Amino acid sequence: MPLDAVGVAMLGAGNVGAGVIAALRAGHERYAVHIGRPLLLRRVLVRDTARARDGVEASVLTSHFEDILADPAIEVVIELMGGEHPAREYIEAVLASGRHVVTANKEVMAKHGAALLAVAAAHNVRLLYEAAVGGGIPIISPLSRDLLANDVTAVTAIINGTTNYMLTGMSQTGTDYAVALAEAQRLGYAEPDPTADVEGTDASYKLAILCGLAFHVAISPDDVAKQGITRLAARDFKYADALGYTIKLLATGRLVDGGVVASVQPTLIAKDEPLAKVDGVLNAIQIEGDLVGRVQFQGRGAGPAPTASAVLADVLDVARDIVAGRRPAEAVEHRKLPIHPPGMHRSRYYMRVTVQDQPGVLAAIAGILGGQAISIASVLQVETDDDARTAELVITTHHATGAARDAALAEIRALDVVVEVGNVLAMAG
Ligand code: NAP
Ligand code: HSE
Repeated sequence: MPLDAVGVAMLGAGNVGAGVIAALRAGHERYAVHIGRPLLLRRVLVRDTARARDGVEASVLTSHFEDILADPAIEVVIELMGGEHPAREYIEAVLASGRHVVTANKEVMAKHGAALLAVAAAHNVRLLYEAAVGGGIPIISPLSRDLLANDVTAVTAIINGTTNYMLTGMSQTGTDYAVALAEAQRLGYAEPDPTADVEGTDASYKLAILCGLAFHVAISPDDVAKQGITRLAARDFKYADALGYTIKLLATGRLVDGGVVASVQPTLIAKDEPLAKVDGVLNAIQIEGDLVGRVQFQGRGAGPAPTASAVLADVLDVARDIVAGRRPAEAVEHRKLPIHPPGMHRSRYYMRVTVQDQPGVLAAIAGILGGQAISIASVLQVETDDDARTAELVITTHHATGAARDAALAEIRALDVVVEVGNVLAMAG
């Protein structure tokens, strides 16, 4: 080992880990110039040490976490195991041992980030997590540094590539949800169990991290109102298109009335909005600040190479600090702001309702909406069978609270003439 190398360990060498190992090897000389000393990968923790890993000597592999802590030459640990446990405990132990941590783990950072950052501060080390949101897109660092002078009022993002791939397919080819999922699974974008992506859990972790940084508040993923994409039908895209919109799984955080609203939900976006044009597996994050106005960051939100780009940016940053003998900066203090419940969120809505096609039905529904002070913006009626006994109503509304929407929907569902309340979706803007 070169005497002056910065010792690095990795916890996990799967998808992203393999990308980091490959990039470390390819960029070794450049990185040594940036840092002033070379990086040396001393240990890699995996479950299965019998399986060879490209670019890693067998002697470097271990399945014992204690081996990492026992090596005093390791100064930076990269956590790429994923999952909540034991990743959370390992990160805490590494920080408490006085070593820096770089992680791509959105679940751990969303649920335990504040506590772990406090452990890092107490031990005078850094915990960096650029790769946890948006893969290769720089967003944690811009929010922490470049946009810090702003009062950030809104974060609007497409931060799940799997669902964006599926929704793009449904929008462009008219396929239904099941077909879009099967295609995403065939291409390896969706997991065999796609729940975390399609139910919005993955995006809720990332949004909680973004809102915490953007608004300087403590916010948990449980504070994010969540609606998945599993109920979307091909005809929702057809109706949206006719109205001039497309549908995206939008993660939104806003400062409203001195509190935070945060949601992940399929949302109609006007086709001329920049986020409506973010297609396939791409991610994009839009930030609105009082000084900067609106800025949008866009790129590949997953995959070994883009994610390695973010992981290694953090590793280089912390290694430069080590070489320069710099102390970590103090974290920005959190504010105590209320997190508004979903009933207080205000939005425009798209409502698809199947009804008996007979006199007075539209008037009854309009009366219920009016009674909840919900103003109708447009109505589209489509006959759904040859005998024209039922029809589908597509109603869009002006802004209303989630509470008013839910009260109106309960009344609409109770009407004898209503066959089904299909999808009710938020509309951006
Ligand atoms: P992965 O392919 O499942 O790899 C996980 C690695 O961790 C494997 O090498 C596995 O060992 C090891 N591991 C898991 N549990 C372990 C344990 N208890 N003890 C020892 N080793 C353990 O995961 P990934 O896709 O690379 O994702 C890693 C992290 O990056 C996750 O937090 C993920 O959310 C995040 N991330 C991923 C992407 C992406 O594109 N995949 C993008 C951004 C962020 P074995 O190899 O022996 O099984
Ligand atoms: N499952 C995530 C996505 C990738 O589809 O965006 C890792 O964050």
